[in-house]
Amino acid sequence: EKALLLYSGGLDTSVMVRWIKEKMNMDVVTLTLDIGNSDLEEIKEKALKLGAIDAITLDVKKEFADNYISREIHANGLYGEYPLSTALARPLMAEKAVSVANENDIKFIAHGSTGKGNDQVRFEVSINALDNNIKVIAPVREWNMTRADELEYAKMNNIYVKSDGKYSVDENIWGRSIEGSSIENINEPVNDDAFEWVTPPQYCGSGEPVSIEFYKGLPSSLNGKSMDLLSIIKNLNIIAGRNGIGIINMIESRLIGLKSHEVYECPAASVILKAHKYLENLILNKNELSVKNYIDNFWSNMVYNGLWFDPSMEHMNQFEKSSNQYITGSVNLRLYKGNMILEGIESPYSLYDYNTINYETGVFDQGSSKGFIDIYKNETVRSNRVKKALTVI
Ligand code: ARG
Ligand code: SIN
Repeated sequence: EKALLLYSGGLDTSVMVRWIKEKMNMDVVTLTLDIGNSDLEEIKEKALKLGAIDAITLDVKKEFADNYISREIHANGLYGEYPLSTALARPLMAEKAVSVANENDIKFIAHGSTGKGNDQVRFEVSINALDNNIKVIAPVREWNMTRADELEYAKMNNIYVKSDGKYSVDENIWGRSIEGSSIENINEPVNDDAFEWVTPPQYCGSGEPVSIEFYKGLPSSLNGKSMDLLSIIKNLNIIAGRNGIGIINMIESRLIGLKSHEVYECPAASVILKAHKYLENLILNKNELSVKNYIDNFWSNMVYNGLWFDPSMEHMNQFEKSSNQYITGSVNLRLYKGNMILEGIESPYSLYDYNTINYETGVFDQGSSKGFIDIYKNETVRSNRVKKALTVI
């Protein structure tokens, strides 16, 4: 029997190549996806050296940007302040694993998530939503190894591990998630050595302006140069990262009912989501914003909770697409020591009317507001008059 292992090249999944062979007596085919900056050749070589019978690699960065990140931008996807970077990549990984498994007639898929997190749920719900005949193997959940045990096992089995192993890190172009080690001590500041993409604000320079153009709700150019979404994200990770943007330090409520402390670096995501939201606020009316806010939240929770392949997502994606139809225009932000300051915004579909709102001219009949208020206040005034008499405290 063969197992397809979602293989990152890191400690957990490297130990797994041997473990699945040894303990489960299965041949291991590895699948490595480049969603960020994985060195596919190096990882492939490592997998084969560890004893995988085949090592498949795919560069899925463009697909991730075009089919996943784009939908998140439309939906202002955030779980608290976290732009869902890890959560968003899991269904893509599941999608690829299922199709590679089907092509190679493999019935088992193995992943490297623990039994304490969200990722196990995301992988398993997604894999079985796409193909319910596939059986999932989650070795970390069964083997009860600590990180120290894993390192020991790696040493004994001649598994080379990079020495950066202090934190547990997951990264892709949309963000870098860091947890474990000293981050678990929630009464201590996070050590600067956790950060690789973002310069902590106190070390940043005097700031930089960026200009982002959107077409139908998606970034289409950066600082006047038109680029595809993937290139805009790559560039913004650098520009925003050096200005301290995108560190998220959060007390998180995981799906399985545990609180955790996690740190994220999401420079490009933070800027793009902020700029997109500014444009929506300019272009959509109050009703559109309020229904969208509800759907956005629902969408974000679904993604965080591993339900990307639930049919409700398709309905929400249709709504998000139509509500983004007019989100076209440009946003100028100054990036300054972790802040994003609005310095200019423009759209052909802007609802902002200078001639009406400005305090100097008289095109708006202020007297009419009085009549509006007289009628508008009726309900609240009457309820209070009637109910105050009955209030018992
Ligand atoms: N808790 C985050 C999430 O649920 C990120 C988990 C990332 N995994 C890691 N090994 N750092 O999306
Ligand atoms: C893991 O359990 O592998 C990472 C943490 C999470 O999924 O939330």
